[in-house]
Amino acid sequence: MLKLNDIIEIEINNIANGGEGVGKYKKLVVFVPFSAIGDYLEVKVVEVKKTFARARINKILSKSEDRCTAGCEYYFSSEKDKYCGGCNFMHIKYLKQLEYKKRFILDSISRIGKINKINNINILQYGLEIENSPLEYRNKLQFPLFMSKDDNKINFGLYINGTHEITPITSCKICKNYANKILNSFISYANKFNIKIYDEKTSLEGFRHVLVRINKKNEAILTIVGTYDYDEINIQIKYLKELSKNLFNDYKNNLDLKINGIIYSVNSKKTNFIFGENFFVLEGKDEIEEKIDMFDGKSIKYKISSSSFFQINTFIMEILYNSVRKLLLNLEIEHLKDLKVLDLFCGSGGIGIFISDLVNNVIGIDVAKKSIENAKIISKENSIFNASYINKNIERKETLDYILEQKVDILIVNPPRKGINKNIIDVIKKISPRKIFYVSCNPVSLARDAGLLKEMYDLKFLKAFDMFPETSNVETLALLERIGNYE
Ligand SMILES: C[S@@+](CC[C@H](N)C(=O)[O-])C[C@H]1O[C@@H](n2cnc3c(N)ncnc32)[C@H](O)[C@@H]1O
Repeated sequence: MLKLNDIIEIEINNIANGGEGVGKYKKLVVFVPFSAIGDYLEVKVVEVKKTFARARINKILSKSEDRCTAGCEYYFSSEKDKYCGGCNFMHIKYLKQLEYKKRFILDSISRIGKINKINNINILQYGLEIENSPLEYRNKLQFPLFMSKDDNKINFGLYINGTHEITPITSCKICKNYANKILNSFISYANKFNIKIYDEKTSLEGFRHVLVRINKKNEAILTIVGTYDYDEINIQIKYLKELSKNLFNDYKNNLDLKINGIIYSVNSKKTNFIFGENFFVLEGKDEIEEKIDMFDGKSIKYKISSSSFFQINTFIMEILYNSVRKLLLNLEIEHLKDLKVLDLFCGSGGIGIFISDLVNNVIGIDVAKKSIENAKIISKENSIFNASYINKNIERKETLDYILEQKVDILIVNPPRKGINKNIIDVIKKISPRKIFYVSCNPVSLARDAGLLKEMYDLKFLKAFDMFPETSNVETLALLERIGNYE
């Protein structure tokens, strides 16, 4: 029987969906983060449960051929106590990362969805000759702020997986470099003005998070989250305003990098959510714009605010949205222009807006108020008049009742990681759209939901998009087609 802190030797022969390597020790499954298939490892047991254990790499005894050197100084290595928990595939060669992801999707579809027809899928890789992983792809970075005990300076970092400890970093390799630059400029001013930093152990007031969003033209929004009400006489707010003015002016006449707005969000609750409900514009405006081209000539200008939803990898998002558009056109559906589309979990209207000119009308539903407001503005500014948006929680009965009243021909669903709940699946079966475009960031919930729909829907198409290189996450587009005749 394995015990905590036991040191054992183990061979890794699979990778689980969350990216951890899997081996067996006397028939017990052992998960080993940051390992690769073919590794032979000395590991230390850090968790023991009835059906599995988890262990940390002590020493690589024999190295897998899938391994490469991670391109980031903060990435895990067995010698480090503190490492960044943001990426978990950086030690794996890029083409192998893609292979592993493809395997997650196919395994999930057959094992969880019990759908066995699909035996190969297309996975999109970044460029052509790409052996090395693409870095600098994230258009959004967000970090907690903390006071470093070593030098008593304000810093930012990332939580070590499963802990409340932060690893300090100075830049994030998978984020756009210009976003890192703005973040570091903010940190210099934060130290100069000596602003107060939140600490869940010692100070429940202060500034707690910093976020940067950036577009292809290198225009950015910087958001600072803190516990203070936006109160002119609060000395910390005064510092923040002064700091913001300085920072904004520093970039004002810059040609290659601009700050469009600096925003303050109040969040005084002990919660996992980063943003609070109230946002205040300190400088400029809470807005950047991103132009996404369609393969057949047009383009859409998307507005992005500090808190609205926008896919974090613009390059892959453009390919994903175009794949939905191409697929819809290639289906050669009769009278497409007469059909009604429901875009569930629509965010700022992203996918629905992108295909709105091909169909009769689009209805988008999302729980985030700011995203729905954004969707309305984006539609109007792109002269799209056949899309409407509703700010509702899809899991509520009143929303399900509303959906039941609609005649839906085509359904787009792009839920968060947990997928669609059973009540929504039942409603989908009742309104029985002809086609379902299911865009998912979690192969497990996609497979479960496709499995729940399989009596009525065939899984016709599956394509994966490497939206999150260096991590085990992957985005998948599935097309489900209603079985039988259309009325
Ligand atoms: C992956 S995003 C979808 C983004 C959008 N399709 C796009 O491409 O920009 C998931 C969305 O689900 C929304 N959401 C999560 N839970 C929800 C719920 N219970 N009801 C409605 N919307 C929800 C979130 O606000 C978020 O915008």
